Amino acid sequence: MNIPFIKMSGIKKSFHHHIVLDGVDLEVCAGEVHALMGENGAGKSTLMKILTGMYERDAGTISINGQEAHYRHPKEAERDGIVFIHQELSMIPTLTVAENIFLGREQTIGRTGIIRRKRMEEEAAIYLRKLGIEISPSEMAGKLSVGKQQIIEIARALSKDAKCLIMDEPTAALTDREIQTLFEVIETLKRQGVAIIYISHRMEEIFKICDRISVLRDGRFIGTKQVAETTFDEIVHMMVGRQIGERFPKRQAHIGEEVLRVEQMTQKGVFENVSFSVRSGEVLGVAGLMGAGRTEIMEALFGVRKMDEGTIYIENRPVKITSPRQAIKHGMAFITEDRKMKGLVLHMNVRENLTLPKSKELASAGVIRQNKESELVQALINRLNIKTASPALPVKALSGGNQQKVVFGKWLAMNPRILILDEPTRGVDVGAKKEIYEIMNELTAQGVAIIMVSSELPEILGMSDRIMVVHEGKVTAILDNNGVDQETIMRAATGGEA
Ligand SMILES: Nc1ncnc2c1ncn2[C@@H]1O[C@H](COP(=O)(O)OP(=O)(O)OP(=O)(O)O)[C@@H](O)[C@H]1O
Ligand SMILES: [Mg+2]
Repeated sequence: MNIPFIKMSGIKKSFHHHIVLDGVDLEVCAGEVHALMGENGAGKSTLMKILTGMYERDAGTISINGQEAHYRHPKEAERDGIVFIHQELSMIPTLTVAENIFLGREQTIGRTGIIRRKRMEEEAAIYLRKLGIEISPSEMAGKLSVGKQQIIEIARALSKDAKCLIMDEPTAALTDREIQTLFEVIETLKRQGVAIIYISHRMEEIFKICDRISVLRDGRFIGTKQVAETTFDEIVHMMVGRQIGERFPKRQAHIGEEVLRVEQMTQKGVFENVSFSVRSGEVLGVAGLMGAGRTEIMEALFGVRKMDEGTIYIENRPVKITSPRQAIKHGMAFITEDRKMKGLVLHMNVRENLTLPKSKELASAGVIRQNKESELVQALINRLNIKTASPALPVKALSGGNQQKVVFGKWLAMNPRILILDEPTRGVDVGAKKEIYEIMNELTAQGVAIIMVSSELPEILGMSDRIMVVHEGKVTAILDNNGVDQETIMRAATGGEA
């Protein structure tokens, strides 16, 4: 390959004496898709924030196209064509696609302030065509799916003449079809000579679309490999520094009596006549496409959302669940997919989050028992291997995957009988995924019934005893997981016969 477009050398960064990057090197060439991998908290996002001037580095050099660079603000990086597409999209829903693409750079007629709407829409159309995508520039951005909004973000980057695009876990919230489109867009950009830095925990994706992989571990640079010359196992080994063995650990749970049964649950326009059950020690996987209504069904079960009809039975007795408080009283716990919105209190620290649902029990005679609490918190941090400098750190300073572990720990502290997991390993690295699977196995061995919603079919197949498939708010199949293949599930998930 030619001279690297981006060359970072010896990058160092600490936050309050905690070393996060310790002499990291990275070289990315024009026209390549370069994966940046590493466990949660390895320093990937921080490295990219340093590259684009969001964070100041403590040491090291950066050169762009052979020229030394030191950005103090993302705007300066953008001037050199380096654009960071964050996971939280920044569309303004009430503006059109074209207005979003040219936001802050609106074209006006002379100095009149009158916006040249037609001209902007024409130009926007050019960028969208470049990406090979059919979206009308005059459509409201808020009406578009997350996948399309992401494509608009890319169009916006192109309109700024991007030479390097950084994507941080871009597919986490996309449907399969949207992922396909995104990959086609990435191919197109690559042919146009754009460098792409791609951060993801999904191995299959990386091996499909990337040319090279660089691995970080604990803030250190481990190495760069050509995808064509490496394997899953080698990359995992580089990331975690050891062999992790089977991806889905075997479970030895005894499947017992039915714990929960749902009959004919309906919320008009959202889901209809949903019936299923789960037994003690069992994992019921819930598959379906994004938007099929899986999360809504779980929310109704947990009392977050009202149901119009239907009955919930716990141990064969009908129960009324109209609030999460009641669900918790019946021994239910719910780990939500959206940790930012519902799972965590971001400004509170790790300790406070971990003990949130348990506070009542810990408080005897109105005083929180400090000792007991610290013991519990430390046990959870160890058990889940949560990487945090201290339990007193606000959770928003934790890496994405470690935030997910805090959500997990928070509910484990309650010893639930029925555990609902919604996308439990989204954004979680390979090692931590396996830790979560092992915890699930431990819980089922203790007789806990688990309902696991997941969009990753390998995970559904690897972890479930039975699989329920949801399509447009209806259950289209409930399958025993012996010899079921991905195609059968996909067929049911798209409305076909299972
Ligand atoms: N603003 C901050 N203040 C304190 N610590 C921080 C801050 N930002 C990041 N860190 C710490 O730096 C480390 C690296 O975090 P970073 O977000 O770069 O990890 P990551 O590799 O992107 O992980 P993930 O895969 O989970 O997104 C973590 O231990 C994190 O807690
Ligand atoms: Mg990150």
